[in-house]
Amino acid sequence: MRVRSTGAADQPKPSAEIEALYRDFESAMLVPLWTEIGDLMPLHPISSALPHLWRWRNLLPVAEKAGELVPVGRGGERRAIALANPGLGGRPFATPTLWAAIQFLNPGEDAPVHRHTQHAFRFVVEGEGVWTVVDGDPVAMRRGDFLPQAGWNWHGHRNFSDRPMAWIDGLDIPFQHHIGSTFFEFGSETAETDEAPPTSRAERLWGHPGLRPLTHLRPTSATPLLAYRWEHTNRALSEQLALEAEGYAATVAPGHAAVRYTNPTTGGDVLPTVRTEFHRLAPDTGTASRQEAGSSVFQVFEGTGEVTVGDASWTVERGDLFVVPSWQPFSASTEHGLDLFRFSDAPIFEQLHLDRRSVS
Ligand SMILES: [Fe+2]
Repeated sequence: MRVRSTGAADQPKPSAEIEALYRDFESAMLVPLWTEIGDLMPLHPISSALPHLWRWRNLLPVAEKAGELVPVGRGGERRAIALANPGLGGRPFATPTLWAAIQFLNPGEDAPVHRHTQHAFRFVVEGEGVWTVVDGDPVAMRRGDFLPQAGWNWHGHRNFSDRPMAWIDGLDIPFQHHIGSTFFEFGSETAETDEAPPTSRAERLWGHPGLRPLTHLRPTSATPLLAYRWEHTNRALSEQLALEAEGYAATVAPGHAAVRYTNPTTGGDVLPTVRTEFHRLAPDTGTASRQEAGSSVFQVFEGTGEVTVGDASWTVERGDLFVVPSWQPFSASTEHGLDLFRFSDAPIFEQLHLDRRSVS
């Protein structure tokens, strides 16, 4: 640790006594506010995280190579390869609060059962054949499906198919790491099921729009529904655009359909710390530029477009992932249509009354 005398106008005049005082601070593990205030109390959020893009065409080959070289099993637990934001010191953190990783499972492989306090989800941009088993309930994973899994539920994965499968894991690992809330327990070495049903027990109980089982009337902090299927998401977005074309209010902006995945017991976010949404931009649509306190990770599900995050702009295509750090302006546009999956730490900011946004 180092307390520096800068000699700037708002700082004490450099002198031998000031230097001696600062060395005394250092040896006593003390830091004065006046040398740090610009960094600690900026006029608006200045995230250490940087806007960054990971191309799916680069991610998938390295995940496949890891599938050849790296066993999956107890200890490593998952063949998951995390996005490391270049502003976050080489840690496997996409943003200061969010983890995003590509996970890869070969035919017949099991990712062992464990549980942890971190809240998690899976999102599938392509492929099928893996069942995620949550508290003994096998849940099929297919393209476009969103599969949330609240903290402290036992879970493992099994690839029942004859083909490898890759998907995206999102978790609040960095957030829970920073605040020191993580607990972890090992479970069985296998996914503990030979069942591969097309419909999970969670979906049979909860997957009927607007219908709530009378056995489960209490609100829960995370969703009990373990899969949100692509056919429902796709239909909801298509119908918003169709209603807009018919002259009804249904979209967040012209040509911009959007849905939030919600907990059917509360109508709020699916997980206490992570918000997940799906956005569809119709052809020849552009969004306003938006700043939000809090960070997001996006994955392109389908289509192509231009995205701008702060000073960075990219042409994106299927599977590409990019980060929007706190308060960095974000906008997107597309000529042929663009489907975007998004996850963010918005529930944390809202619970703490720190959420702010600006649209221009
Ligand atoms: Fe896990």
